[in-house]
Amino acid sequence: MNDQLTHPTAFYALPRIGSPAPQFEITTTHGVIRLEDYKGSWLILFSHPADFTPVCTTEFMAFQSIYPQLREMNTELLGLSIDSVYSHIAWVRNIEEKMGVKIEFPVIADLNKEVATKYGMIMPDESTTETSRAVFVIDDNQIIRAIIYYPLTTGRNMDEILRLVQALQTHVKHKVATPANWRPGDKVIVPPPSSQEMAEERVKQGDVECTDWYFCKKELVE
Ligand code: BEZ
Repeated sequence: MNDQLTHPTAFYALPRIGSPAPQFEITTTHGVIRLEDYKGSWLILFSHPADFTPVCTTEFMAFQSIYPQLREMNTELLGLSIDSVYSHIAWVRNIEEKMGVKIEFPVIADLNKEVATKYGMIMPDESTTETSRAVFVIDDNQIIRAIIYYPLTTGRNMDEILRLVQALQTHVKHKVATPANWRPGDKVIVPPPSSQEMAEERVKQGDVECTDWYFCKKELVE
């Protein structure tokens, strides 16, 4: 049979944006953690290929550097790789000793690939023994709001991860969309009207700047 069909990752429907995040209960560097422990907070669940590797080390330090800003946005961080908890402990201690950065977020030890498989973090044609660089943004109701995948060889951009959470939370709070390269403070996109009557009303509204009936922006008033 085709290798891709017999591989364990083939038998899970991959999570999708808008779907409930798959549940788990798993050993981490902070003890056993369940997804449901995060109810009421946003969560960034991210995987890295392996402990004691250089790109992953830069990413861990970079994730730690944005952790305080994420927490101000009610957002937690949770790492994952197919390594043992002892390897994770040794690596985070090494990062603190050699790089001077204390990693404060928990890291899942997914030795039997349970969470990695449920979340589709393994790309079998890239590596069957390592998770790729996946990021799942899960909201406070445990719905998946965004998914990012990067390959083994490219470290992720923390500014974009922060910006993504800011954009998602802005959408939830204000029911607006955000344009390309949006940053907090920029104008937002008012969703297109769904009837002719709404389109006519829209172009008359004072707080909305419309280039055309479907293309309207406005300042956000907090
Ligand atoms: C790294 O983190 O340096 C790395 C891990 C897996 C493949 C390539 C690079």
